[in-house]
Amino acid sequence: MIQSTVDARRQLASQLDLSRRADLELLDRFDRWGTDLISALADVYDISEALPELLRIMAAQHNARSEDLRQRDRQRVLEPDWFQKPSTVGYVCYTDLFAKNLKGLNKRIGYLQEMGVSYLHLMPILKPRPGANDGGYAVMDYRALREDLGTMDELRSTAKKLHESGISLTLDLVLNHVAQEHEWAEKAKAGDKKYRDYFYVYPDREIPDQFEKSLTEVFPDFAPGNFTWDDQLNGWVWTTFNSYQWDVNWSNPVVFCEFADIIANLANHGVDCLRLDAIAFIWKRMGTQSQGEPEVHAITQAMRAFARILTPALIVKAEAIVGPAQVSAYFGEGERAGKVSDLAYHNTLMVQIWAAIAAKDTTLLERSLSRFTALPNTTAWAVYLRCHDDIGWAIDDTDAHSVGLNGHMHRMFLAEFFNGTFAGSDARGVDFQVDPVSGEKRTSGTAAALAGVQAALTAKDRVHLDIAIDRYLCAYGMVFGFGGIPLLYMGDEIGLLNDETYLKDPAKAADSRWANRPAMKWAAAERAATSLAADAPLAVYAEHRIRAGIQRLIEVRRALPSLHASVATQVSKAKQKGVVVFNRRHPAGHLVQVYNLSDQGRWIGGDELGGLHGLVTDHITGHSFDLSGGIPLAPYEARWLTN
Ligand code: GLC
Repeated sequence: MIQSTVDARRQLASQLDLSRRADLELLDRFDRWGTDLISALADVYDISEALPELLRIMAAQHNARSEDLRQRDRQRVLEPDWFQKPSTVGYVCYTDLFAKNLKGLNKRIGYLQEMGVSYLHLMPILKPRPGANDGGYAVMDYRALREDLGTMDELRSTAKKLHESGISLTLDLVLNHVAQEHEWAEKAKAGDKKYRDYFYVYPDREIPDQFEKSLTEVFPDFAPGNFTWDDQLNGWVWTTFNSYQWDVNWSNPVVFCEFADIIANLANHGVDCLRLDAIAFIWKRMGTQSQGEPEVHAITQAMRAFARILTPALIVKAEAIVGPAQVSAYFGEGERAGKVSDLAYHNTLMVQIWAAIAAKDTTLLERSLSRFTALPNTTAWAVYLRCHDDIGWAIDDTDAHSVGLNGHMHRMFLAEFFNGTFAGSDARGVDFQVDPVSGEKRTSGTAAALAGVQAALTAKDRVHLDIAIDRYLCAYGMVFGFGGIPLLYMGDEIGLLNDETYLKDPAKAADSRWANRPAMKWAAAERAATSLAADAPLAVYAEHRIRAGIQRLIEVRRALPSLHASVATQVSKAKQKGVVVFNRRHPAGHLVQVYNLSDQGRWIGGDELGGLHGLVTDHITGHSFDLSGGIPLAPYEARWLTN
């Protein structure tokens, strides 16, 4: 029986061949991180149940790891900050929408490389259920790919090609739920007790009704409630998201071992980072919202330590769309500091950038960002402006109140500003999940649609278009300048507009998030990377300007050591309305960024620039000037300054 780290080490060693270098290295890593693994497991499970199987998986998957990947492990152990570097630039795409399939993607690696991308997130690629599958987030088989995209062997070879091109690979790990057609669910339906315990199943409404009292609804429009009756199970099964996505029972240690093996298998195919989808939801507790419970972080620490020991080239990213007070726990707080996720999405920054643009005011942005405590300096934010999901207007009531706003009214304003109904708005978002009681709603739409580029193009208005592009690039400037991995959502490098074709597909029509999942326009993308003809149509002009602006941000960022993620950005608003200052005090150099999120020219005084003085260089334009008289800022102008 394994009762301690010493017993576990002995058992692991007995399964290894210690005359081999790689096996000794594994044991060294166990010595370094074994306690993190075992203590976190012990916080949730009876370790004598979980550990023997976990150590067996570890030894087996270690033997299956290729020599190439072992070499990658060694590099990453020596360079653990690889993902924190300013040269890390992310790109996020659906394989089919980007290049049809993995074979097509292989041919586009050069495009990514040329742009300076070094981190690629391929959206759900594992085999989903047939029909509606929540954009691939209803996985039927974690050991096979969606058939039209390729095979697991092709995944391995794409990963290798990416690695050779200096690009790491991120995939989604959907771990809160599986498709109702997944083998585990099928076995549960067939009456297998072992597999019934992989899910939360209740014979009647008694317990579900008690849980419902404190749960929220993620998709109230098309998937109300958190439980679904299943005839074959003869019970109510927990389904936080859609009725076909069955929540997995993480209180069962066997489930932990199943996922540990899935993680190792993906890592052994060359995956460098796993996006832990909907991680907040994996632990259920009566009387709570069942989101972000302490066990979520213990389980993530155990997973993280497991990977650190077995496949140290792998990192994990928390997809926890939560506020400042909750998000730090996903990086680890207290005794878990730096032991949980390596990356987490900066949802607050994303929401606040858009909110400041709508209000032409940075007061709330400053207030919300002042809520963040320091992150472990081994971690990084995943910073983004748009993704494949909707934007929930996560304006905290207290923050709003403290700057003289009403939270509910401000959320209503933002939803109406971004769907274009607010007077004077040029945003072209689409509503998502309207709450019938409060009237509050979320917003879908591409960055270009939300920033006004789409409206300006429809109106064929060149002056308006230039303003909208400035706004777009200013917002992306904040993403590239904040520190952490900037994530460019596919097509945003040329400002793709909303795609309305989803409305014709019954499996997608109710879900407006498809508006912001357009297919790549390759002719436009290739054209935008070359020189612009003088008589080019407006749309081509827009694509070109956006591509050049994004390219500039990438290049400038790579050359600024002060953008290393180990140092946090301090955010303050300037005296003039709509202007925000990002201060990055890094030993490698002090970088001050200024953004004018208003449509008026502004001025910022020399005394507002965090102590920079005298001659400064603006890295975005490459111009140098004397700061003594302050600096003028054009509408939506961004400047990155150093002495
Ligand atoms: C995450 C995904 C979202 C999906 C949900 C359920 O939030 O980003 O697209 O619907 O998880 O898997």
